Amino acid sequence: MNKQALLQDYNLNGLKLPNRIAMAPMTRSRATNPEKKATADLQGEYYKQRFSAGLLITEGSQVSEEAVGYVNTPGIYFKEQVEGWKEVTQMVHEVNGRIFIQLWHVGRMSHPDFHNGKKPLSASAINPNSQSYTPDGFKDTVTPKEMSLEDIKRTIKDFANAGKNAMDAGFDGVEIHSSNGYLFHQFFNATSNTREDEYGGSIEKRAKFLFDVIDAMKEVMPEQKIGLRLNPSLHGIFGMEMDEETIPTFDYIVSKLNNYDLAYLHLSEPFNDVSEVPYAVEEIAKHYRPLYKGTLMINAGFDQEKGNKVIEDGDADLVAFGKPYISNPDLVERFEKGVELSKWDEDTFYVPGKEGYLDYETKART
Ligand SMILES: Cc1cc2nc3c(=O)[nH]c(=O)nc-3n(C[C@H](O)[C@H](O)[C@H](O)COP(=O)(O)O)c2cc1C
Repeated sequence: MNKQALLQDYNLNGLKLPNRIAMAPMTRSRATNPEKKATADLQGEYYKQRFSAGLLITEGSQVSEEAVGYVNTPGIYFKEQVEGWKEVTQMVHEVNGRIFIQLWHVGRMSHPDFHNGKKPLSASAINPNSQSYTPDGFKDTVTPKEMSLEDIKRTIKDFANAGKNAMDAGFDGVEIHSSNGYLFHQFFNATSNTREDEYGGSIEKRAKFLFDVIDAMKEVMPEQKIGLRLNPSLHGIFGMEMDEETIPTFDYIVSKLNNYDLAYLHLSEPFNDVSEVPYAVEEIAKHYRPLYKGTLMINAGFDQEKGNKVIEDGDADLVAFGKPYISNPDLVERFEKGVELSKWDEDTFYVPGKEGYLDYETKART
């Protein structure tokens, strides 16, 4: 009998994946220690429990002090943090898992409370009119500081430093979080980027920051280990508004990515109903598969049936599951054996400690 598509193996630029199932990056806000580092007892156990995924992608991890915008998220910019992640990757590798780290800068989706009262940074000084999850709960976002060319240069270096740190920590690769309304996305969209210098004013210029980061990162790590994430039809969430240039900008980015030999392109289907949004693409995998020549990972709202179908139809190579992975550490075995999935508890998504984190059953694993 032929194996279901999700359970077929895959060669990810030399990294052998036993199946097509990825764990999507998910912030869990458990780095409650002062160094904001990942630790063996929490993040180590959590990712180890999920080792059977073809590929694990960690929660968004800030590349600098300036990059943070949510409470208790781990970083990857100094030594202690690298040591913490090293323990995590060792634990995952000991059980034959594979793990990438997601590198994150939230840009304007932050709050002065995280930056000693200073404004967060963004492409332009435009308030996303959203909310930031601060140590004192949700607070309204503010008008950010428009990044100077020096700020941009420093941030490019921060990503390169984080990429190098990720290699030192033993990760199999990194995923640049250029998605979901965060810093890179703020550069891409004309509604959040009104710059008139080399980083704004045209599609090519709004995309330049991303390519400058990729170019800097591939100097310090193999480009075959760099993946990145995009959410082209994000509208009305995380402060993002689409306009007529949004999809052409993503089309340009995706086509240009073909000039690189990256690990993968990770795309999200729209997070909400965009059928009434004039400029949105409703079927992201179908739209971008013909444009991208490398490995395409798709996410958002998939279950086993839809996951198998998108691969069988040739619209994606890998499927990333988010919320199902919170409550089903043995998702792969459940798909293999047809065991019913457990439901996730939203109340424990972002609370400290082991509850709702390490205590989900692995009943399909024997
Ligand atoms: C608790 C939680 C935290 C998330 N954190 C991140 C994150 O750190 N980085 C990211 O790119 N996406 C993040 N996401 C989005 C998920 O990766 C994914 O795109 C989303 O959950 C849709 O996929 P699903 O329908 O399979 O859950 C998060 C989602 C959830 C539910």
